[in-house]
Amino acid sequence: MKLLFVCLGNICRSPSAEAMARQLIAQRGLTERYQCDSAGTGDWHIGHAPDKRAQAAGHRRGYDLTELRARLLTAADFDDFDLILVMDNSNLDNARALQPTPSHATLKRMLDYLPEQPLREVPDPFYGGEAGFEKVLDLLEASINGLLDELEAA
Ligand code: 4NP
Repeated sequence: MKLLFVCLGNICRSPSAEAMARQLIAQRGLTERYQCDSAGTGDWHIGHAPDKRAQAAGHRRGYDLTELRARLLTAADFDDFDLILVMDNSNLDNARALQPTPSHATLKRMLDYLPEQPLREVPDPFYGGEAGFEKVLDLLEASINGLLDELEAA
């Protein structure tokens, strides 16, 4: 099962999700069953490491983002991945614009896997403070666990 996490810049939310998913999958003993990657719909940060604030917030919870590098979401990703998980509605619009028909990948919002959470979008932390990065990690931990519960129950 190939999972692709997508945000705007691929330097804050989606690399955090990628590193976290890899670790939560390993903790469940499922590493053989999943592959994880991340991408952005904007090209400003291609080739860059994740934002220092995202790296620091992830590190405090035991997630290592240091080796990740930003790349663009492409139409080919819809053939290559099984599930493409976007952070917000704007990412969803941008991803839909690239999605071929037919598309192998299923396209979902991350918080679709957290139905009890009133927020439907993982807020962009880029222009905010430290608390925004913690909020992103809280939402991602809960929704990635919800996603893995659902995939493993199927
Ligand atoms: P991300 O955050 O989409 O979570 O990686 C952002 C990173 C960079 C920008 C916007 C959002 N930017 O405008 O450069």
